[in-house]
Amino acid sequence: MIISAPGKLMLLGEHAVVYNHPCLVTAVGQRLFAEIELISKPVMQLDASDVNVAGYEKPLQDLGGGEMPQGARFIEIAVRNFLSKFPRDKGIKITTKSEFSSKFGFGSSSASTVCVIKGLSEIFGKKISKKECFDLAYKTVLDIQGKGSGFDVAAAIYGGTLYFVTGGKIIEPLKITELPIIIGYSGIKADTVTLIKQVAEKAKKYPEVINNIYLEIEKLVEQAKLAVLSKDWITLGELMNFNQGYLAALGVGSRKLAAMIYAARDVGAFGAKLSGAGVGDCMIAISSRGIRQKIEKEIKSVGGEVINIPVNVEGVKIEK
Ligand code: PMV
Repeated sequence: MIISAPGKLMLLGEHAVVYNHPCLVTAVGQRLFAEIELISKPVMQLDASDVNVAGYEKPLQDLGGGEMPQGARFIEIAVRNFLSKFPRDKGIKITTKSEFSSKFGFGSSSASTVCVIKGLSEIFGKKISKKECFDLAYKTVLDIQGKGSGFDVAAAIYGGTLYFVTGGKIIEPLKITELPIIIGYSGIKADTVTLIKQVAEKAKKYPEVINNIYLEIEKLVEQAKLAVLSKDWITLGELMNFNQGYLAALGVGSRKLAAMIYAARDVGAFGAKLSGAGVGDCMIAISSRGIRQKIEKEIKSVGGEVINIPVNVEGVKIEK
């Protein structure tokens, strides 16, 4: 069986969403594919060439213990979590292939986690709902990272564009047909867990300041949801600019992202902000169609890489 799941891009609400506030996220059209087969030997076998894993094998009863290559962690823990909920004794062979480079921060780990859980539930004839799939995949992410809102897991499962609250308390698909954003990659690798920790340190020292920032971000997300639904891109852009200001206040901006953001705004984008944990990875801008190319050129002129991929795409699906 071959399963695929999309990557994700945060639109608004990052960091605040880790602490019980909402965010908006869209699924992006570069997908991760996982081929899953049952084998008679009671082991998990994994080949994931994109993350340098070849010929990895571990007995089913040892999953999650001992040495685990970095690139195998999410899949191994996903298999373990699935099998501890739905015990089976067949061996499992998994091969993954990604359409996107893991460097962009589009969430290849959560997409592969989702593919494995969805794939195993289908292969073993154990139908699970989207929410059950979310809960198992989110548990997997927390087992490995300790922190995270689960927005990336939700995007991989539900696809489209979502209004999402921490841990899947609310997962609301927004019925939209377009979202004219431009994506620029900074070339800098961001480490999400480190940045979450840095913001948490700030929150220890300035709890009221940070909490107020989160509450303000929540207001922006609520308004942005309405702007997205009514295709009011000018308002969405303005809200993105506010959000960028708050992210800078949280300390997750960087010179490179700022250069790309100002480059986009200077030539007429309605708004621009970083997307995700900050410091590196990607920024996004929103504009009218007419000046898209001008903005792309400007982002490139400050050293950004423009990534042309569809957004608001379908969630996890069985390919074959
Ligand atoms: O770095 P990314 O694209 O995975 O985004 C992280 C977003 C955070 O809100 C900082 C973390 C989270 O899990 O929501």
